[in-house]
Amino acid sequence: MISVKNLTKIYKVYRKTGNLIKDIFFRKYEDILALDKVSFEIGKNELVGFIGPNGAGKTTTLKILSGILYPTSGKVSVLGFFPFDKKEAFLKQISFVMGQRNQLIWDLPAIDTFFLNKEIYELDEEKFKKNLQKLTTIFSAKKLIQKPVKMLSLGERMKMEFIAALLHQPKIIFLDEPTIGLDIFSQEAIRNFIKDYQKEFQATIILTSHYLEDVKRLAKRLIIINKGKILYDGSLTAILQKFSSVKYVSLILEKEIKKEVLFKIGKPIVYQFPKVVFRIQKKDLPQVVAYINDQIPYLDLAIEDEKIEEVVKNLFKNQQ
Ligand SMILES: Nc1ncnc2c1ncn2[C@@H]1O[C@H](COP(=O)(O)OP(=O)(O)OP(=O)(O)O)[C@@H](O)[C@H]1O
Ligand SMILES: [Mg+2]
Repeated sequence: MISVKNLTKIYKVYRKTGNLIKDIFFRKYEDILALDKVSFEIGKNELVGFIGPNGAGKTTTLKILSGILYPTSGKVSVLGFFPFDKKEAFLKQISFVMGQRNQLIWDLPAIDTFFLNKEIYELDEEKFKKNLQKLTTIFSAKKLIQKPVKMLSLGERMKMEFIAALLHQPKIIFLDEPTIGLDIFSQEAIRNFIKDYQKEFQATIILTSHYLEDVKRLAKRLIIINKGKILYDGSLTAILQKFSSVKYVSLILEKEIKKEVLFKIGKPIVYQFPKVVFRIQKKDLPQVVAYINDQIPYLDLAIEDEKIEEVVKNLFKNQQ
């Protein structure tokens, strides 16, 4: 469905020196390497979370995949098309939703934009009605589509954006931070919607987000990018195996015990009777558990993985 090989994008930016003569006659350009030999393949019906810090290259990648930007070098194929050719058959099968941009007509109800899109995408009456029905149902938005867009809340407007972007039933959807700025309830509504849409229409989706929660809830596969380079491409669960070397051991003590006995494991990160939490190296787990069972009376013991948020944060930190 989507294939990218050694994709590189260099932005040329004009740099002002402040000297008028120099600025006019000797323009200086600076190269910004936004994508550096990025490669990946995405199959049908996959939902991939694409994450990375500000300026990592996420939006640039999505813009190239959707045909908005021309790549500097490398191969890009989406549904067998080179996106920048902007063939009608290609454009009709994709959609690009950006959290910060909107396509709705401000003064009119969203339904008017939907009718406009019906014409643009040449949808027949039947299909248009059917899709609109489905989309407004998943979003419980039957009434909202009749209200002028400017009167809608941010979350409601985002729902309308989604409907407008999906009426033509695209096979591939690029979502660039679709939940940005929304409260937790609207974020949840959007997440549920994305899930339902994908199930219903078997769409292929790439989702960028700064909220790892979005990705955790929606994607099985994660691509992590930083400074234009891919750091990780794999399952959400495997990332812990690959990059995390610690485990958390929590205990609820049965009674107070000598500090020396407890601290032999290491200095706990939480120590508030009856609760104690140790952060230990994965490789030490068997000895630590054996020691606890032998020496420490407890009511409850739990072993937890490091949080994915922490692992990702460390990954970026090590890259600085
Ligand atoms: N039109 C442009 N002209 C010049 N440089 C650009 C342009 N668009 C993006 N860049 C630069 O390219 C790099 C990648 O930007 P991009 O917008 O793809 O990042 P991003 O991962 O989407 O970040 P964010 O999380 O902030 O949205 C950054 O260094 C950015 O400053
Ligand atoms: Mg971006």
